[in-house]
Amino acid sequence: MGHTIDDAALDTLFREARTHTKWQARPVADQTLRDLYDLLKWAPTSANAAPARFAFLRSKEAKERLRPALAPGNVDKTMTAPVTVIVAYDLKFYEQLPRLFPQSPGMQQLFLSNPNFVETTAKRNSSLQGAYLILAARALGLDCGPMSGFDNAKVDAAFFPDGRFKSNFLCSLGYGDASKVLPRSPRLTFEEACAIV
Ligand SMILES: Cc1cc2nc3c(=O)[nH]c(=O)nc-3n(C[C@H](O)[C@H](O)[C@H](O)COP(=O)(O)O)c2cc1C
Repeated sequence: MGHTIDDAALDTLFREARTHTKWQARPVADQTLRDLYDLLKWAPTSANAAPARFAFLRSKEAKERLRPALAPGNVDKTMTAPVTVIVAYDLKFYEQLPRLFPQSPGMQQLFLSNPNFVETTAKRNSSLQGAYLILAARALGLDCGPMSGFDNAKVDAAFFPDGRFKSNFLCSLGYGDASKVLPRSPRLTFEEACAIV
């Protein structure tokens, strides 16, 4: 069993972490992106399928390729971010299952015969992996700006033209300018959002 993390860590991951749209000029090192992946990869996915693929856009050229796909309100916050990651999924993730899930040799065939199951599994688990990315980034001292305000088809045409990978959502990464963050919005209470049955 794992040990409980302390209050300061919970603040960093949840209570004090905010969504950022204004960024300090401080860059994000390649090693930090590797560290980020090397943390998030351990969090669970169904059948250990790990369908998410991550395209970290940092160069001016890559950002410019992304620009036409962005909702107008997301352009400046994305173009000024040190890195924006496309959280995508691989529609052929099942090809890795013999290695990733050796305990169940029939899994690959299950996916091969059911494209709807492939899509559902890829979307659900890449969304989870995107959430793991956000929490791993916060754990490493990075700030995040997740975004769904963009044209998926345009992103896919620009970055994944062969159709194998599909974009799920975008997430800017960097060191946020805390002075530019708006007041925190409320959350639903336990009574509103939960039931114990
Ligand atoms: C999947 C996802 C998509 C989002 N899309 C956008 C977006 O397109 N543009 C934007 O400015 N913020 C976007 N947000 C940011 C949310 O509005 C923000 O995380 C939420 O209001 C909570 O803010 P807080 O983390 O500062 O409390 C998105 C967040 C998530 C998780």
